[in-house]
Amino acid sequence: MANSEAAIIVGFWLWVCIYMTKGLNAGEVTYDGTSLIVNGTRKLLISGSIHYPRSTPQMWPGLIDKAKEGGLNCVQTYVFWNMHEPEQGKFNFEGRSDLVKFVKLIHSRGMYVSLRIGPYIEAEWNFGGFPYWLREIPGIIFRTDNEPFKREMQRFTEMIANMMKRENLFASQGGPIIVAQIENEYGIVEPSFREGGRSYVRWAANMAIELNTNVPWIMCKQPDAPNPIINTCNGLYCGDTFDGPNSNKKPKMWTENWIGWFQVFGGAKHHRPVENIAYAVARFYAKNGTFVNYYMYHGGTNFGRSGGPFITASYDYDAPIDEYGNEREPKWSHLKDLNTAIMRCSQTLLSARAETFSLGSSQEAHVYRGHSGQCAAFLSNMNPTSGVTLNFQNMTYSLPAWSVSILPDCKTVVFNTANVNAQSKTHNLTSNNPQRKLKSSYFLSNKEVEKGFYWETFKEKIGGSEDTQFDNKGLLEHINTTKDTTDYLWYNIRVDVDENEPFIRSNSSLVLAIGSHGYAVHVFVNDHFSGSAHGNKSNPGFSLNLHISLRPGKNDISLLSVMVGLPDSGAYFERKTAGISSVMIQGFKGGSRDYSQELWAYQIGLVGEKQNIFTKNGSRTVNWNPSISDQHLTWYKTTIDAPEGDGPISLDLRSMGKGQIWINGESVGRYWIIFLVPLGDCSTCDYRGSWNLKKCATNCGQPSQTLYHIPRSLLQPTGNLLVLFEEVGGEPSKISLLTDLKNY
Ligand code: GAL
Repeated sequence: MANSEAAIIVGFWLWVCIYMTKGLNAGEVTYDGTSLIVNGTRKLLISGSIHYPRSTPQMWPGLIDKAKEGGLNCVQTYVFWNMHEPEQGKFNFEGRSDLVKFVKLIHSRGMYVSLRIGPYIEAEWNFGGFPYWLREIPGIIFRTDNEPFKREMQRFTEMIANMMKRENLFASQGGPIIVAQIENEYGIVEPSFREGGRSYVRWAANMAIELNTNVPWIMCKQPDAPNPIINTCNGLYCGDTFDGPNSNKKPKMWTENWIGWFQVFGGAKHHRPVENIAYAVARFYAKNGTFVNYYMYHGGTNFGRSGGPFITASYDYDAPIDEYGNEREPKWSHLKDLNTAIMRCSQTLLSARAETFSLGSSQEAHVYRGHSGQCAAFLSNMNPTSGVTLNFQNMTYSLPAWSVSILPDCKTVVFNTANVNAQSKTHNLTSNNPQRKLKSSYFLSNKEVEKGFYWETFKEKIGGSEDTQFDNKGLLEHINTTKDTTDYLWYNIRVDVDENEPFIRSNSSLVLAIGSHGYAVHVFVNDHFSGSAHGNKSNPGFSLNLHISLRPGKNDISLLSVMVGLPDSGAYFERKTAGISSVMIQGFKGGSRDYSQELWAYQIGLVGEKQNIFTKNGSRTVNWNPSISDQHLTWYKTTIDAPEGDGPISLDLRSMGKGQIWINGESVGRYWIIFLVPLGDCSTCDYRGSWNLKKCATNCGQPSQTLYHIPRSLLQPTGNLLVLFEEVGGEPSKISLLTDLKNY
């Protein structure tokens, strides 16, 4: 037989095999009032959010394996439009943006995917996931019945759906994607858009359905989700706060069970005790829920400038897998035990509706009885302060305060949500103290590998370089001007002072009064630093009154306005403004002078940014100074070797002020040390009865984040270029590199 004939025969059988395998798996994903139904089989789903751009492809397999080992059968992710289409029509699906690779990895582990295309996602992500250029489309209004917006949203959503189809990734094609999301919590802003909001919801629903993915679509927090879209719950206690979807033909799903919370600069670390999470999850499955997603299961890192307003580089979220990819205990293990217990009940939960029985004033049982006699029960003690002993089907059970016991056979307790690491196989559980100590000295056990690097400095030019300045009469809005190409915008003005001004002789000072829409400013008078100010997550805008001295003749006032992430939420967030809004000087003999409408000289970005001095080639274009100085607006550079081993790596920047970090030319995030957490923002960890952000918060009086993740995959064994841009000054000699991060 000729080679070509053999090839044809082999090819034919290969095609038959592939076709058969696809044929066997293929089928629509449908649903009813009980659950999602994948290829004819009902599914009980336990899912966890892992956002692919918040870790590296090298980390993905480990994270997914840990999710599977932790008892999950599904991974949920958003799709990050601004990573994929940073410039209109120019696409990026490489590296951390390799969505297809991520979805295929999950598939290879036998897990499902919940794909939240959005494309609005919020997620504490720059501009809520929208690319900057979207804002510049004439006539655009985001997230309403607006043609230019709908056109772009549809184009992107279609592109992602088609990409998934091409790769056979929908479950209907034998792939792992069993459900897809359009929009995100639109119900919150819908009233602001009035009729436009209502028609937009209908349009978005139709548009999604017409993509023919053959998997159900969901809309979270969208009580009016049009059929057949499933409206789902996001929150802390969806078992007790969510009345269920808007039709009894739709399953009860919980897309975001907040397992902790994100952190902002100037904000505390939030810890949601695992007993509280387990309680909420058990209540949801007890009450006919069949899909819960832990948001986040691995939070990860906001690399570069990808974080939303004031969001820290760490997106750790107090998740079961910490920022560095380690299991966080006892959270990971306790949830694994919970997930295992729930899965033991799955067949029964999927074959019946729960019946509710009162067992006391704050105690109840939810019982599922299947047709063939199987029985599973959840016993709840909703009393937040006292444990109880109660009777259920002629047996006695002890339940700690605020806890749920799971009985897969209606007799034996295999899990109680409050008993961490003390699961009893018997039905006679005793209460133990579920209060656990929160770690405050999380870095103590880590290995400090290197300290005292050889640093060189380059001083950024105050006011920017004269060659690249441009003039404008009046104060420009920051976001419009920089177009998010950088965090930085210089506002410069030259102020003339008459030598007869009385303040010169009396040696008294003037007051420079600055108003800003946000987020931070550093003020220089005649090239000398005079002061800084900033807003915060809830109030990005601020004002600043500074005593300054001017000399007779010409004086240069230079204001460096700084952004920390574009707005990511709210109606009309594309219209939110930032930057300097007013500038006055008070104390002249003729009274105050308002400079807001005067001629200003601007520079977008820093000289160092323009020269790419954080890259190997760019760093050669400037003269670095071997002496370290603790000054404002200074670039620091050094060379580091990768620490031995393969453990995660972090940079301890507690001796620094505020700025950005680059490793081998890639920005790994913004840092902000000197913005301390207010003392009153922490409180004791009393979470029984409820948990909110004020409870179990730590880090008060401290910087929000001192350790910054340097992904190992960015490092060569030796000679790695580490560059910092420091805005306010610090002590680089005290910076150290840590590895083997444990108990973070
Ligand atoms: C939700 C939103 C998520 C994320 C979360 C807080 O409301 O849907 O994208 O922002 O809040 O982490």
